[in-house]
Amino acid sequence: MPPVDYLRISLIDRCNFRCTYCMPENAALQYVQRDDVLTDDEILTVVREIFIPLGFRNWRLTGGEPLLRPGVVEVVRSLAKLPETEDLAITTNAFHLAPLAADLYAAGLRRLNISLDSLEPEIFEQIIGNQGRDRWGQVWEGIQTAHRVGFNPLKLNVVVIPGVNDHEVEALAALSIEQEWHVRFIEFMPIGNPELFGARAWIPSEELRQRIRQRWGLETSQVRGNGPADVFQIPGAAGTLGFISQMSECFCDRCNRMRLSADGWLRPCLLNETGQINLRQGLRDGIAIATLRAQVAELLALKPEINFKARESGTTTGHYHRTMSQIGG
Ligand code: GTP
Ligand code: 5AD
Ligand code: SF4
Repeated sequence: MPPVDYLRISLIDRCNFRCTYCMPENAALQYVQRDDVLTDDEILTVVREIFIPLGFRNWRLTGGEPLLRPGVVEVVRSLAKLPETEDLAITTNAFHLAPLAADLYAAGLRRLNISLDSLEPEIFEQIIGNQGRDRWGQVWEGIQTAHRVGFNPLKLNVVVIPGVNDHEVEALAALSIEQEWHVRFIEFMPIGNPELFGARAWIPSEELRQRIRQRWGLETSQVRGNGPADVFQIPGAAGTLGFISQMSECFCDRCNRMRLSADGWLRPCLLNETGQINLRQGLRDGIAIATLRAQVAELLALKPEINFKARESGTTTGHYHRTMSQIGG
């Protein structure tokens, strides 16, 4: 197991999209009360005084939609200037990116992962929950702006849903040819919207690779992220193609991350909450930081046993009812 040195920090549990794979239709989501959201100072305190001493060096800001958090640029600035920070990134839907991209870059952010499930505006609107405006255009503008501002690497995340956007795999893969963009295909997971999952299921990454191989050829890339993606490349392409294959090929054994929810729960795994700790409560109750750090160290020691594989042992239904926007992706 690699060292666990990467914390995904959810800045807000709200989202301006309603992606069908992420949340059930017409869901009445229970949002975290505003007072229960970790403040900027609390985030900085847990990073500096709990996670850095435990060896964490990499931070990813997630949501909901992280760009909805007031003061997101300041959070980026504070994390970017910590001398221990080795990597800082944001995962966003890019809807609010165009006007923020330059400020985020100036604050020290260098890399962005952006959800882009379709190149066809109508299909995109259908996936994000028919908002009725030109959301695709605004997201595309966000991506182009981020590229112009200099974000690199720029990764585009595609959740592949059979019968919805799987016919676009080649068109999306082609985005990696001319530009140094990194397109990643994600196997649909049974969280967020179990009904849609039940009806559509998922496509193994290898099937997508076969299609791409037939069209252009495909080779293993020298570039590796520090995430779960297996990275390939169309020969001669400027960018890469990543495959995140949680369903066909469990990557729990190389998991290097923990998650901090917007209201301060530390979760050891995306899909298994065993042992989670409420750091917000601990901080606000005045528990000594050394005590909280010791609790996190204990959870870290248990982490190799806490993973997604529980679903294979038959002890769970394999369906998860929390949405990705509540966990932070
Ligand atoms: P880098 O490779 O460091 O850029 O990051 P990443 O791929 O980990 O980050 P990103 O936020 O883009 O993650 C993309 C998607 O991969 C997520 O939205 C999830 O669908 C999936 N994913 C990331 N981490 C995990 C994990 O720990 N477990 C599972 N099951 N899926 C994950
Ligand atoms: N399966 C796989 N990935 C998902 N995401 C959200 N819901 C799911 C799901 N059911 C991921 C997508 C999106 C990010 C914010 O969360 O990668 O880009
Ligand atoms: Fe879509 Fe991400 Fe919002 Fe979920 S959190 S609805 S995946 S944009």
